[in-house]
Amino acid sequence: MHTFQRLVFVLLLATASSFLTAQSTASGKIIVNADLGKDTISKHIYGHFSEHLGHCIYGGFYVGENNAKIPNIKGVRTDVVDALKALKIPNLRWPGGCFADTYHWKDGIGPKSERPSIVNTWWGGVTEDNSFGTHDFLDMCELLGTEPYLSANVGSGTVKELADWIQYVNHDGTSPMADLRRKNGREKSWGVKYWGIGNEMWGCGGHMTPEFYANIYRQYVTFMTDWTNTGGLFRVASGAGGNNYNWTEVLMRDIPLRMLDAVALHHYSVIDWNAKGSATEYSEGQYFTIMKKALEMEELVQRHTTIMDKYDPKKRVALFVDEWGGWYNVEPGTNPGFLYQQNTMRDAMIAATTLNIFNNHCDRVKMANLAQTINVLQAVILTDEEKMLLTPTYHVMKMYNVHQDALLLPVDVQNCNYTFENQSLPALSASASRDNSGVTHISVANIDSKETKSVTVELRGIAVGTVEAEILRSAKLQDHNTFDQPDAIKPARFNGFKRNGNSIEMELPPFSVVVLAVKR
Ligand code: AHR
Repeated sequence: MHTFQRLVFVLLLATASSFLTAQSTASGKIIVNADLGKDTISKHIYGHFSEHLGHCIYGGFYVGENNAKIPNIKGVRTDVVDALKALKIPNLRWPGGCFADTYHWKDGIGPKSERPSIVNTWWGGVTEDNSFGTHDFLDMCELLGTEPYLSANVGSGTVKELADWIQYVNHDGTSPMADLRRKNGREKSWGVKYWGIGNEMWGCGGHMTPEFYANIYRQYVTFMTDWTNTGGLFRVASGAGGNNYNWTEVLMRDIPLRMLDAVALHHYSVIDWNAKGSATEYSEGQYFTIMKKALEMEELVQRHTTIMDKYDPKKRVALFVDEWGGWYNVEPGTNPGFLYQQNTMRDAMIAATTLNIFNNHCDRVKMANLAQTINVLQAVILTDEEKMLLTPTYHVMKMYNVHQDALLLPVDVQNCNYTFENQSLPALSASASRDNSGVTHISVANIDSKETKSVTVELRGIAVGTVEAEILRSAKLQDHNTFDQPDAIKPARFNGFKRNGNSIEMELPPFSVVVLAVKR
């Protein structure tokens, strides 16, 4: 063949094969065991995290009581309140993160004009005026209808400081702290149940060994009085970062079970801590790596659980994944210490797969907190002065909130692959539950960046009646909502399925999430 002809032939072949790749589909099957449910998916798996970091609190939640430009209730943005109520956020962790182990709660009570300032040494070195403190946060939780989860300062605080904080927020009788609360304008206690004893004590919380922290933990909880209005305080030990299994092992070994209600775990999906990459401009290889990191959550939960099972076979102690999400470079031109990043369909994939993992492990995972709610890391809300937008992650969490407090229905997934170069990941992720009204919800994500997947969902143990579905998808993986186009990505009704007896057959587009609602 002439060289030119050969070239044309090769080009034609290449074009044909890329066309075939784009068009081809693979198939998978999801069996929903609708008659085998025994565990409840705690609504707290759908929890959030709000740290004094960048514009999460200041400018995100809180814009100040005297802000005439942005509608607010006692300084808290009403657009944010409405959006988070629609999301049904079950709990909110505050004030950190690393910030928590620098925070002295007494600086944030009393007349705002008299509060001392604090320099946020972890996040951008900015000076804060402490205008958002304990009353502001707990009143805001009431406004949101969400449960507060307070992180106590162990790193630079004292046992007395924590004991006083609990008395201040939880005691209804006569006591120094309850009286001080009343003097500051709040008669009734808030009844805070969830308490974190420090944060990342292996790192920013004090660089402790697990043995040392286990002792410190025992000391702190000894002086945590339950003022009888919470049904028992829920004490959370600061947990491992990722695969530090020794941390969990030592805590479970050295802390008596009666002193421990939950052990935490943090896991971020990061390409490389020294080269995190852009939040919006990324290659398929970077997407693949992030999804690999996100899917590691399965192994982390399994292996930390195995250790916990050894010491606590009855599963009295919960695993709280109280920080998770994607972490990229900050948006160009923003303060590197503020961790402000955009949120694309990649983040929707992280959220969809991670929440499925948590649902499927709800016998041990009883709480999880996405990092962080507004303007920080994998946020569900971004704000810019009076503008606000909901991210793809928000939409996934809203589509999935049907699982809150529903009965987990175990699924068996016969998966198909998402292949990139010479590596593969499971393309499909799924979980299912039945709510109080008898509706079965099945959430399925196809993380493949190129291929549509044909998926058969077979329901065993119930007769399928009517089926409705919602989908989150977009043309490009890097697509995201902007302040000019805040609704570019939002859920839509999904009709790409058909009933076949007790099965539902659907075509799942690349990087899409579908939630099916099946009535009997
Ligand atoms: O979420 C940001 C930071 O990540 C938190 O402050 C810390 O706990 C973690 O390292």
